[in-house]
Amino acid sequence: MGMGNAAMHDFDPIEAAMRYHERTKHQFNHYADGPGQLDWANQPSPFRRYEGASLVHLPLLGSGEEPLSPRYSDLYHRGSVPSAPLTIRSLSRFFQYALAISAWKQVGTTRWSLRCNPSSGNLHPTEGYLLTGALPGFGNAPGLYHYAPLEHVLERRVVCDEALFAALMRGFPAHALLIGLSSIHWREAWKYGERAFRYCQHDVGHAIGALRIAAAALGWSAVLLHGLADQTIEDLLGLNRAEDFARAEREHPDAVLAVWPTHPAEDGQAGAQRTVARHLDPALAHRLALARWQGTANRLSRDDPVRWEIIDAVAAATRKPPTEAQAHAASEAPAVGSSGNARADGSAAGQIILQRRSLQACDGRTSIMAERLYRMLARLMPRVELPASQRPIPWDTIAWDPRIHLGLFVHRVDGLEPGLYLLVRDPDKTDKLQRAMHQRFAWTPAPGCPVDLPLCLLEAGDTRRLATQLSCHQNIAGDGAFSLAMIAEYQEALFTQGAWFYRRLFWETGLIGQVLYLEAEAAGVRATGIGCFFDDPVHRVFGLEDLTFQSLYHFTVGGPVDDHRLTTLAPYETRSGAPERSVDLP
Ligand SMILES: Cc1cc2nc3c(=O)[nH]c(=O)nc-3n(C[C@H](O)[C@H](O)[C@H](O)COP(=O)(O)O)c2cc1C
Repeated sequence: MGMGNAAMHDFDPIEAAMRYHERTKHQFNHYADGPGQLDWANQPSPFRRYEGASLVHLPLLGSGEEPLSPRYSDLYHRGSVPSAPLTIRSLSRFFQYALAISAWKQVGTTRWSLRCNPSSGNLHPTEGYLLTGALPGFGNAPGLYHYAPLEHVLERRVVCDEALFAALMRGFPAHALLIGLSSIHWREAWKYGERAFRYCQHDVGHAIGALRIAAAALGWSAVLLHGLADQTIEDLLGLNRAEDFARAEREHPDAVLAVWPTHPAEDGQAGAQRTVARHLDPALAHRLALARWQGTANRLSRDDPVRWEIIDAVAAATRKPPTEAQAHAASEAPAVGSSGNARADGSAAGQIILQRRSLQACDGRTSIMAERLYRMLARLMPRVELPASQRPIPWDTIAWDPRIHLGLFVHRVDGLEPGLYLLVRDPDKTDKLQRAMHQRFAWTPAPGCPVDLPLCLLEAGDTRRLATQLSCHQNIAGDGAFSLAMIAEYQEALFTQGAWFYRRLFWETGLIGQVLYLEAEAAGVRATGIGCFFDDPVHRVFGLEDLTFQSLYHFTVGGPVDDHRLTTLAPYETRSGAPERSVDLP
């Protein structure tokens, strides 16, 4: 590993992350190590609870109730959704759209729940937290809460002293909240063994996307606090309180987002730029950790977690230290869309968000129009030429320049020749990609593609069987309209940022996936994330020979075939399954 600036970093963690990555690749003749047989009696519960914590019951909002859902297409245009005031009702909707249960499925006597955020194998390792100021319905004191999706309740872990809360929130706009995410690796490792750590990170990325989009549906802003050390996240969320997890599986710190209602005119500076911190003072978070907490984490599995040493090693190696993170110059200016994004879609955002599902099988027939594909892909363009805060939603949330590009297997797109395509999400990286890939590739701009969408045909041909084969022989990859590989600028990102950035690369893929899921629903088709693929065979298809680029996640989009043996039930007994209504916004 010889790279100039590598010397700046402690090498061991980077090597450990890369070792994990190599070791957890699926090969044609060898899958990454897993449990072999599933130990059903020891299956972890997908629902964490803190026994003894006092509860805030979030009101379940039916259709037609305030706050009403904006149009789906308005989600991506900053400034088009009026900001909902922060109340228990708007917070309820926020959690509902981001992390709540969206349906139950039943076959025979077996029932399982599904959520607005997807999860590899439906195992849901991601837990959500809220730090809020005093609000009616919340006991009128600031506090840190855990979100329990089964009951749609918040469990109060700690009351936060007013002065401490004010100090913690000093860098953020009025009425800001903090939303925390953690992962219980064991939930994924139970089923997937060593590769599970990757899936937990994908799921975090999906959850960040789901939170950003839920915020957008309320007209709220959201940024990831990119500078935080994992230690600070642990303090803030109470994850290092060993006594509260005495018999329970531990949670690993992931991310904290600041979320706030966007009020451009409230301080008399309409359109003015507001600076939002990307940091929290670690000493203040530590003070919260030392306060009097309530509740003990429940045990999720009968037996102690099976130890996968390589997961413990990569979790330690990719632990985030505090880093410099420039304050976010929050933009209240309308987000610039892409020319491919006519405001044509009138579906209610809430409807699209609540109906999102993974397809289990593709019909092998449904096609989409090239124009529609371009519109979907335009949503994935982060517009790197803009400062981070002015990038389109949800790319305004993450602080780093995008490192993921898309290799597409186009099967059934009307107006587009089948074959291998590439979407370069950062046009400055075109040369680097061209140099790394097969020299025979054509790099022909896709016909009729908007000029600001750098989608190129690499090689024409029927890639249906190839796509299926590469995705662990899953037919959904070949039977859809298209599938894709998310190709990361891998080695340089780790060498320049540090081992902790390994997790961010997966988060970025999850964020892309979350937008794709919703775009597929809006287009009348359906998508599925694909974590199971043969890593190096994928690299060979594109001619990628070293670690400059690595494919981290796959996705498929197509016409779904429903499984009629399954019955679908409403997410919460008290909530009607009636469709959401769209409202016309000025
Ligand atoms: C990171 C990730 C990887 C996934 N990998 C696969 C896969 O390889 N094959 C598959 O059929 N589904 C895959 N899925 C889909 C999940 O099984 C699905 O999200 C989960 O069952 C919940 O269903 P829902 O998405 O309809 O809510 C994946 C989902 C995620 C988020």
